[in-house]
Amino acid sequence: MNGARDPAENPAVGNREPRARRFPVVLDGQPALVTGANSGIGKAVALGLAACGADVVVNYVVNSAAAEEVAHDIEAGGRRAIALKADVSREDEVRSMFASAVDHFGTLHIAVNNAGLQRDAPLHEMTLEQWNKVIGVNLTGQFLCAREAVREFRRRGVVDNVSAAAGKLVFMSSVHQEIPWAGHVNYASSKGGVMQLMRSIAQEVAPFGIRANGVAPGAVRTPINRAAWDTAEAYDRLMTLVPYGRIGEPEDIAQAVSWLVSDAADYVTGATLFVDGGMSLYPGFATGG
Ligand code: BGC
Repeated sequence: MNGARDPAENPAVGNREPRARRFPVVLDGQPALVTGANSGIGKAVALGLAACGADVVVNYVVNSAAAEEVAHDIEAGGRRAIALKADVSREDEVRSMFASAVDHFGTLHIAVNNAGLQRDAPLHEMTLEQWNKVIGVNLTGQFLCAREAVREFRRRGVVDNVSAAAGKLVFMSSVHQEIPWAGHVNYASSKGGVMQLMRSIAQEVAPFGIRANGVAPGAVRTPINRAAWDTAEAYDRLMTLVPYGRIGEPEDIAQAVSWLVSDAADYVTGATLFVDGGMSLYPGFATGG
């Protein structure tokens, strides 16, 4: 199996570049809020939604310059954008961010709960602070943002000729909602929690015409996992885990999100879309299976 995956023997696999893709312009008139949108996956999602026609709230908690740059890029593309600071793990900050967003754009149709972080440690060394930080941002943060978004979606309801749904929620999960992750029990627990948070919310809000879905990225080229891809040795090791033979790019996730929040996915709710180059198909790949 490994031989067939050797790029030298089979040029169809290996370190392939992703193809350039376009975004369909199907989200005009639908303001979106993306948390953690100043870098990595969140930034790509914010830019992708804007490319689909949405005005975008670019949430950040550190590095306002990066968030402003994302907002400027969106404006340069002809959409409106505002950078808003809020720590998603803090109720007061989340509430005032959503209030400012609605004030600024009139309403919201899309909320992408993306902000997330890692604080890795072996279990016997993991501090309660590391545990609480990850659960606070990755899980409680998604609850707080989903709650505010649903309040606004329910208040406004469906707007004809804008979207078939009253609102769309996307929860950024991970392959580790499924694949256990030794050395990262706080992170894996937060993402397992995100899955049931998303599914329970999807069930609860469907009668109001609100859709909720998850996206589970695999290894994506972002700062959170730089050590896993920024040397040739690390990249090759990573590729033993990825059947598709390339690392994910932030745009891969943005494309999936833009489809999930569009009317093309109007009958999709409570689903998790794995965007992982096949990583979750065969978690044993690393050890040769
Ligand atoms: C983590 C990355 C990791 C990837 C695959 C993601 O959820 O944030 O650090 O590389 O899962 O293991």
